[in-house]
Amino acid sequence: MTNNDSQIDLRSDTVTRPGPKMRAVMAEATVGDDVWGDDPTVQQLEAYVASLLGKDAALFVPSGTQSNLCALMSHCRRGEEYVVGQNAHTYKYEAGGAAVLGSIQPQPIEFEDDGTLDLDKVRAKIKVDNEHFAITKLLTLENTVDGKVLPMSYIAEAKALVDEVGLKFHLDGARVWNAAAALDVDVAEIAAPFDSVSVCLSKGLGAPVGSVLVGDAPFIAAAKRWRKMLGGGLRQAGILAAAGIYALDHHRARLVDDHAMAHRMGEALNTVPGVTTTGVNTNMVFCDFSAYDGDVAARFAEHNILAAVGPAASRMVAHLDVPDDAPERLVAALS
Ligand SMILES: Cc1ncc(COP(=O)(O)O)c(C=O)c1O
Repeated sequence: MTNNDSQIDLRSDTVTRPGPKMRAVMAEATVGDDVWGDDPTVQQLEAYVASLLGKDAALFVPSGTQSNLCALMSHCRRGEEYVVGQNAHTYKYEAGGAAVLGSIQPQPIEFEDDGTLDLDKVRAKIKVDNEHFAITKLLTLENTVDGKVLPMSYIAEAKALVDEVGLKFHLDGARVWNAAAALDVDVAEIAAPFDSVSVCLSKGLGAPVGSVLVGDAPFIAAAKRWRKMLGGGLRQAGILAAAGIYALDHHRARLVDDHAMAHRMGEALNTVPGVTTTGVNTNMVFCDFSAYDGDVAARFAEHNILAAVGPAASRMVAHLDVPDDAPERLVAALS
């Protein structure tokens, strides 16, 4: 269900709108006051996500940003530090929340081309115990990173490092569902080495709102206190949790369709003179339009296509609401 059925919105997988069946389960959800611990649908969602990810406990939160912040604030205290990718969401795109609200120092490191953090560079940034330094407490990874899937062998190596040096290990798994679909592995296998994982329901899965943070019970109890402080304690949130349960039940298996669509869009764009696809990673296509003779944004606008078109790189994201003829319409718009 879109507001403008002829429009193709490729800006992000967050732009999906709940369809009639999802809206129906939301309307019928059994609810209660979740701050009082009374909402059975929220509890059902939390138990569901904890079991999918193989962790003891889970917490439903309004957004991925708040989920990551609750995680960072639960792992690190004032004056402590997390090691993170320079372009990671948990560093660059969350308004500095860890530093501003948590007094937690980020230690960013450039991502390698494949979305990993070079573990030698990570090791070099871990501070020794000295009063001059913040106390390094946590390593945070992201999966997927710009749609790129972290190799399982890399996660295992990172886990060996955090165990050796005594760091906690958090995953921003906003799109970990896409990683699991791409690797054809159980998402719990990806989650297993991490102390905490944040997953989003409102990206490729197509729920309107919501993320879930998972970890062991004491960690989730701490995160719940931070959620309250951050204003994320919601009342009859079962209406939203019901959408999340529906999304997990009905939209997880189809993520491979989004990956196939991204491939089709990439191949189609490559046929346009002056357009080079620089990467197709799970559900994301990155393009270089710099050699294209024309105003890409204007052409897309004329053809009712929305995309994140930038001077250096442009991104198009496949999702549930992208119509089957999107590749042909992209080519037609640019021809
Ligand atoms: C990798 C990643 N992590 C976290 C988030 C934050 O999610 P939210 O927009 O729900 O705060 C996003 C949002 O796009 C994201 O891409």
